[in-house]
Amino acid sequence: MSVKPEDFFKNIISHCKEYGYIFQSSEIYDGLSAVYDYGQNGAELKKNIREYWWKAMVQMHENIVGIDASIFMHPTTWKASGHVDAFNDPLIDNKDSKKRYRADVLIEEHVAKIEDKINKEVEKAAKRFENFDATMFKSTNARVLEYQKKIDEINSRFKNALNDNNLAEVKQIIIDCEIVCPISGSRNWTDVRQFNLMFSTSMGSVSEEASTIYLRPETAQGIFVNYLNVQKTGRMKLPFGIAQTGKAFRNEIVARQFIFRMREFEQMEMQFFVKPGTEMQYYEEWKNKRLAWHLSLGLGKENYKFHDHIKLAHYANAACDIEFQFPFGFKELEGIHSRTDFDLKQHEQYSGKKLQYFDVEENKSYVPYVVETSVGLDRLFLSILSAAYKEEPLENGETRTVLNLPPALAPIKIAVFPLVKKDGLPELAESIINDLKFDYAVAYDEKDTVGKRYRRHDAIGTPYCITVDHQSKEDKTVTVRHRDTMQQERLPITELNKFFENKVSFKSLLKQL
Ligand code: GAP
Repeated sequence: MSVKPEDFFKNIISHCKEYGYIFQSSEIYDGLSAVYDYGQNGAELKKNIREYWWKAMVQMHENIVGIDASIFMHPTTWKASGHVDAFNDPLIDNKDSKKRYRADVLIEEHVAKIEDKINKEVEKAAKRFENFDATMFKSTNARVLEYQKKIDEINSRFKNALNDNNLAEVKQIIIDCEIVCPISGSRNWTDVRQFNLMFSTSMGSVSEEASTIYLRPETAQGIFVNYLNVQKTGRMKLPFGIAQTGKAFRNEIVARQFIFRMREFEQMEMQFFVKPGTEMQYYEEWKNKRLAWHLSLGLGKENYKFHDHIKLAHYANAACDIEFQFPFGFKELEGIHSRTDFDLKQHEQYSGKKLQYFDVEENKSYVPYVVETSVGLDRLFLSILSAAYKEEPLENGETRTVLNLPPALAPIKIAVFPLVKKDGLPELAESIINDLKFDYAVAYDEKDTVGKRYRRHDAIGTPYCITVDHQSKEDKTVTVRHRDTMQQERLPITELNKFFENKVSFKSLLKQL
């Protein structure tokens, strides 16, 4: 049975709720838009992803250390970083549907539709001609050239409009491209306005003393303001990195697609401080390293691609995204940015404190340049879950729903079942758990038939199930069932620990890096 693409994503969302992965926040009060809670299995999966990232970035690199900075920061931080003045989204409303959109997203989606048309032309031609050369076809076919010209024109106008902060021109592009509101189908648009994405609150016990502070919109600034503390106390030499994971908050206006775009989310960021002039070399290096990290999860090379930014953020001299093929198309998963010395210089200027590095070899001080890797933990969670979710037809006509999660990330690594709830089998199962639980996340399950228990753990993504039966009492062996192949094998209880050792640990993933 094949699932329609539009149903597939809905099924994943329902599955997340049914199996304790993700719940709508404050659901009993009808929820809070674009805010989600992680349930018992979701919290474990999320923790494991975070831990794998931390091990790969901090533990595996001698020159990277981790910190844990506060969410609240001095308000001047955000003035210095440019977020107060420039952390905006260009918004446009449709007057008929009263729906609000990000103007840049409307234009990007329009461009993506034209790209789709090119791809369709290429596919059609590839079917018609033998020895088909796609590059040659794209550079000679009149229709494709026409589409490409349109794309280049739009991109170039859009880039200039954003660089000049010319919002009237952004609206004009939307009008000229004849972009319609997906809800009302009309082109009755308001002007484009900038909207700041930071949440603010006040700090102080007495209202007169209160000052406005922001919930951090990125974790990176906590690293920048601690750069010198870490460099001096850790005696760090360039190039070196500071990593951090933690919550970030953005008042996303168009928040949709489940946990893809949330108002409260978690980032895993690393700032790599380098000698000025060497940043492009490290930018390329981190692009490759981060892609390799994603590929190590085994979700398929074809699901990732790089996307270079047309418009660079105010702090960057090069930037790209690693995009992932989500159920709703290729979208940004991680950003890699060459942030120059912008942030440190700004903080020097606003704080009046020097944030320089003394280079012994050169015998001079300078402000380092920074290459940043920044990935959203929740988005990573969604990428892993959507690639792992399968509805598999079985020979008996039933459908098995399974999460083929990378075993090292699975919330439960091993489930142990007594075949029946008597004859000393539960006690033997418990003793196996007591032995394994020091090294692995293990669950006990005695309810329903063994078949139903297998299905339940397939749906949770548990890579291995152990069944204890009457023979186990006699010869001290058990059945181990593999989630992905559904194959079973008989193993001595004494060998279980060794058997699982390299199968569910981070080591197997880390060794690929
Ligand atoms: N420090 C750089 C920075 O924050 P970004 O591209 O704005 O760069 C980095 O964000 C990553 O954070 C994104 O690639 C994405 O994975 C994640 N992210 C950003 N906004 C998000 C949101 N509203 N919900 C979930 N994840 C988000």
